[in-house]
Amino acid sequence: MSLSSDAAKDTANRARSDAPDLPQRLPQHVAVIMDGNGRWATERGLPRVAGHQAGVQTVREIVRASLDAGVPVLTLYAFSQENWKRPKDEVGVLMDLLDHFIVRELDDLERQGVRLRTIGRTEALPPRTLEKIRDAEKRTSTNAKLTLVIALNYGARTEILDAVRQLMRRAAADPGSAERALDEAVFSEHLYTKGLPDPDLLIRTSGEMRLSNFLLWQMSYTEIYITRKYWPDFTREDYFEALREYATRERRFGDVSA
Ligand code: IPE
Ligand code: IPE
Ligand code: MG
Repeated sequence: MSLSSDAAKDTANRARSDAPDLPQRLPQHVAVIMDGNGRWATERGLPRVAGHQAGVQTVREIVRASLDAGVPVLTLYAFSQENWKRPKDEVGVLMDLLDHFIVRELDDLERQGVRLRTIGRTEALPPRTLEKIRDAEKRTSTNAKLTLVIALNYGARTEILDAVRQLMRRAAADPGSAERALDEAVFSEHLYTKGLPDPDLLIRTSGEMRLSNFLLWQMSYTEIYITRKYWPDFTREDYFEALREYATRERRFGDVSA
């Protein structure tokens, strides 16, 4: 989507009775790199997967907090393309947790007005997980309060190449189409995030200062907020603190100060 109008689109005056003291200027789209599960567990003498299990509770809490705050789009980085490199057992647990999350939370998500969407090469996920995801996407497709986007088997460079492939196919079928109409808006419509606004705010937990192949195109002008807290320790109040910090940022988009 357009990079220049994000500030103007910031939400104002949303009902948020359960989230007091929030600024008027809220991000339209918050993206989160949920990091630090493994270290959280290791520091407690637990296996890494215990950190992933604990992290699921944080997901629940931050979805709820987004609803209460009135943030309309929340994207969670749950599994990167690069995460297949991890030990087989850990990958298996992550897939099972995803599976269980969808089964256990679907009714609640549906009731709360959450629309579930995924980005990434989901077709490579285990078939039974994929089936549950497709069913959940269908069942929540008319919900509009919060769009919860889960990045699964996601890699930003692959996403960009997938868009280029689509455009090349289009150009082969209709020579000249690419030159006639290829601009940022058209390109964005070929990304997995089609139809979503670019993230206004990126939160990364656990203190790492990197993007890890997440939403590279979409985050050209995203405000970045990094906390040292591990994901399982990240709370609703920490999330609101990030929203408050966001409201103090001056987004210049290359212009000079107002
Ligand atoms: C984030 O926590 C969860 C996923 C990547 C799925 P990590 O598992 O990366 O935790 P650390 O970074 O090793 O502590
Ligand atoms: C990024 O975290 C991916 C997810 C949170 C799903 P990683 O823990 O995989 O990132 P790196 O390897 O530290 O960059
Ligand atoms: Mg990590």
